[in-house]
Amino acid sequence: MKNYTSINDIENIDTWILEAKEVKRNPLKNKDLGKNKTLGLLFFNSSLRTRLSTQKAALNLGMDPIVMNVSGDAWGIEFGDGTIMNGTTAEHIKEAAAVVSQYCDIIAVRAFPTLTDKEKDESEQVLTAFKEYASVPIVNMESATGHPLQALTDAITIRENTTKKRPKVVLSWAPHIKALPHAVANSFTQAMQKMDVEFVIANPEGYNLNPEITKGTPIYHNQEEAFKDADFVYTKNWSSYENYGKVVNTDPNWMITKDKLGDAKFLHCLPVRRNVIVEDAVLESDSSLVIQQANNRTYAAQLVLKKILNKL
Ligand code: CP
Repeated sequence: MKNYTSINDIENIDTWILEAKEVKRNPLKNKDLGKNKTLGLLFFNSSLRTRLSTQKAALNLGMDPIVMNVSGDAWGIEFGDGTIMNGTTAEHIKEAAAVVSQYCDIIAVRAFPTLTDKEKDESEQVLTAFKEYASVPIVNMESATGHPLQALTDAITIRENTTKKRPKVVLSWAPHIKALPHAVANSFTQAMQKMDVEFVIANPEGYNLNPEITKGTPIYHNQEEAFKDADFVYTKNWSSYENYGKVVNTDPNWMITKDKLGDAKFLHCLPVRRNVIVEDAVLESDSSLVIQQANNRTYAAQLVLKKILNKL
């Protein structure tokens, strides 16, 4: 594997889950694999889990991670081809990516969508440019439309917490005050489609995800109906796809409560707004898997880095 930029880079998710569980059992087994190799982590946006767990994964493999907050600390980067750069951008991605490639053996990038320009977001301008102009492998740490490190983590966490061959998994929208990206929901949907699970999505009207991603997955506009016999409820807010990037509903009745959850386990990628997305009682119960899920971010990232290092 050269790059890990989409969930589609996983050939067989069941095999990857088994491999990740092995990494988790013995995280220092390959502590020399990344010796004298550098991982560059470039953040155009904020992060807690991705930033720390990906560095931890690199350290477990013996790599040296170096981190940069690109938006705050680097020169403004230009992505347009042929642009007359007499505005706010001072450095072109063609030079920036080539230069960083000389310092790093793998580059990991986080760059969120605009949520105002659907075409630009779907073109994955930043990630695509790094893939084109860097000369080393690229890892997606959440891009405009996908968060494949998170989705691999979620798949691992679901398999760790069920003995059922085919559990029922629900992806449920929940309210939020701000317009949020579709990336987590998109990649989670794609991961569940690759697994042997009964997968459905629950969201209010006006919040259907990109139909090219949801494909044949059943979509319910009635949360109670979707939650019937659920083993796992994965909750996430996302803004409207149809009315691109807009908040068209903040109905608090879509918040996850202990009553609604029943016997199902609760997942969320974090950070989560308490008593907006989910009530305290859920997060503070044994039904919540969010801390275990965040722990698995390290092993998902470590498996990805290991696979890339093995091909260098
Ligand atoms: N879930 C996740 O990606 O968390 P951070 O935004 O804190 O990295």
